[in-house]
Amino acid sequence: MDNIHNMNKVKMLEFAEHGDERGKLVIAEGGLDIPFDIKRVFYIYGTQSNIIRGQHANKKTEFVLINVAGTSKVKVKDGEGNEAIFCLNRPHTGVYLPTMVWKEMYDFSDDSVLLVLCSEHYDASEYIRKYDDFVKIIRGSDE
Ligand code: TYD
Repeated sequence: MDNIHNMNKVKMLEFAEHGDERGKLVIAEGGLDIPFDIKRVFYIYGTQSNIIRGQHANKKTEFVLINVAGTSKVKVKDGEGNEAIFCLNRPHTGVYLPTMVWKEMYDFSDDSVLLVLCSEHYDASEYIRKYDDFVKIIRGSDE
């Protein structure tokens, strides 16, 4: 598995705002605005500000996270000591997460609705839920 430098693939996405006198509209088309075909969508709301969600890495799934309402933060780690924090605070921006990065979502505002677009259907077996296991796999791929 070539997981090395996956951290470099993490990036903020900015979508065009199609605003007029009726309000705003943002388009996220799979394969165009989103760097994969979208197979699954879920959203997270009603999470208290002191809760940390995520805390996993995925072997197969790529994600785009968009706070369509409210705000949250996403911490990303590569298992080699590098980490980055992204603030999701505008409905027309998102963060792209490739496979094999550790992610934690936290600091949810009361009104946060975090929309998550996924490249794969849900498969529990491709989730790595222990940080130690993640680091071992990353180290293994580095040899
Ligand atoms: P979990 O991965 O813990 O959510 P988060 O990443 O936000 O912390 O998912 C919570 C529960 O929902 C867990 O039992 C798995 C289940 N689940 C599905 O069945 N399908 C899905 O697409 C997702 C994201 C979760």
